[in-house]
Amino acid sequence: MDSMLTSLSNVPWWLWIIVFLGLVAFRDIFIQKAHTISHNYPVVGHLRYWLESIGPEMRQYFVANNREELPFNRIERSWIYASAKKENNYEGFGTDRDIYAHQHIFVKNQMMAFQMPENHPNKARKDFLPCAKVMGAYNKRKKPYRPASIINVSAMSFGSLSAAAVEAMNKGVSKSDAYHNTGEGGLSPYHKQGGDVVFHFGTGYFGVRSSDGNLSLEKLERLVAENPCIKAIEIKLSQGAKPGKGGVLPGAKITKELAEIRGVAPGKDVLSPATHKAFGTVTELMELIETIAEKTGLPVGIKGAIGKLDQWEELADMMLKTGRGPDFITVDGGEGGTGAAPPSFADHVSLPWVYGFSELYKVFQTRDLVSRVVFIGSGKLGFPAKAAMAFAMGVDCINVAREAMMSIGCIQAQVCHTNKCPAGIATQNKWRQRGINIPLKSDRLAQYFKTFRKELVEITHAAGYEHPCQFTMHDIQVNVDDIDLTRNLRTTYGYNKTEVPFQGTQALYECQYLGGKNFIESTK
Ligand SMILES: Cc1cc2nc3c(=O)[nH]c(=O)nc-3n(C[C@H](O)[C@H](O)[C@H](O)COP(=O)(O)O)c2cc1C
Repeated sequence: MDSMLTSLSNVPWWLWIIVFLGLVAFRDIFIQKAHTISHNYPVVGHLRYWLESIGPEMRQYFVANNREELPFNRIERSWIYASAKKENNYEGFGTDRDIYAHQHIFVKNQMMAFQMPENHPNKARKDFLPCAKVMGAYNKRKKPYRPASIINVSAMSFGSLSAAAVEAMNKGVSKSDAYHNTGEGGLSPYHKQGGDVVFHFGTGYFGVRSSDGNLSLEKLERLVAENPCIKAIEIKLSQGAKPGKGGVLPGAKITKELAEIRGVAPGKDVLSPATHKAFGTVTELMELIETIAEKTGLPVGIKGAIGKLDQWEELADMMLKTGRGPDFITVDGGEGGTGAAPPSFADHVSLPWVYGFSELYKVFQTRDLVSRVVFIGSGKLGFPAKAAMAFAMGVDCINVAREAMMSIGCIQAQVCHTNKCPAGIATQNKWRQRGINIPLKSDRLAQYFKTFRKELVEITHAAGYEHPCQFTMHDIQVNVDDIDLTRNLRTTYGYNKTEVPFQGTQALYECQYLGGKNFIESTK
């Protein structure tokens, strides 16, 4: 034995490498049957697979220019990172964007900017920017809600996100007076860290699910009664990245904790069907909205990606006829993100945000229903100038998902569907999420929201207004082509926004339904 070990230790290192490569070559040619490239080019063929696997990182770090990548280019990501860290988020030497490019947005500044009177709430806190409308006011819900921030965390479930990420986000919204939408995975302890919550459910009814997989109104009623942090309820009809597509959460991902929160069996695949069991028609949806609002007292809204309009028209007609309806509508753009979706859906099904929202808004506007509904937009709107455009088109709030992820450290690795998120955000892997410093990351989300609001307030003032709800379609232009074809939003999308009743930021500050609390506390 000793002599064998001695002779092995005398084998030179380069011979070991040759033996190893010989074994790999043998495997490539005679054992594996799946890869033609490895068979035809033994050993070196592996280089191709390896280079392909690190290609996105190589392109991101070395090849792509600042404005080239999608979904978010480097300038956009860097702006979020710098804003979240309260670092210098300015650019030197002027814009590096081609401002003559197709779809470029211009906000028209006023000759003289809006002058804040003494004692204006924005003098005390430059980022105070609540929603100009109250959810549930028109329908006289028992507990109306005015979001204290016009930017909020969009639906992302515990399950698609890690516990650490959800906790950091909830603490972050608490520090910035925003709300946190739970996404489809139910209300977890990580959502209960002090922030306002919008409880969201989809076809899986996770967290409020009966044994036959339908919606349990009793569970929903109990959940709301036991959790005063829930300020509103959102019924998901569809999302931009995969409208009309169900999903399977693999049993391997269903830990005991996740199973308890979602109300499903641990270790077994869970199906989110493509359609709802609790309603199948617009009339039934309207009935469900009223039942939930009556039982919980909360404002109830719906979320959808826009394609065909006939059922939305049916809903609007019914709202007109009955005097009831959803308190808020979240419109998600086809460019929206997801934990996992087939590219055929993500790339092609449903309209991009500007087209979808403008079509939907007109459905409600032509029936004079706009003032009854809080419109929320989502789909890469987490940048102040884009948000200004969205407000000019008629939104009252925006929701952000991936931008919120980036503020807590997402590097756009685009591997949310693999459970291998390098930033510990879109994974259930305990080791990967342990790297998230929750207090620090929650500060970062809060700081991103505050910087965003401050910059949006500044853009609004530059345009001569006090609040972004006052933006009109004439205030923003988008490039359609050269100067003769640059058109304002009114001409491009064919409507004028309905004026939002607004009595000044002070009135919003004094509103009894105002959510959040930090601003009020800090100014006492
Ligand atoms: C990881 C992840 C999980 C998501 N989960 C949900 C969900 O449970 N329900 C839903 O309606 N939308 C979900 N979305 C979509 C977002 O809520 C949002 O509508 C979309 O990403 C557009 O916003 P963004 O461009 O700011 O990311 C998810 C998005 C991401 C990135």
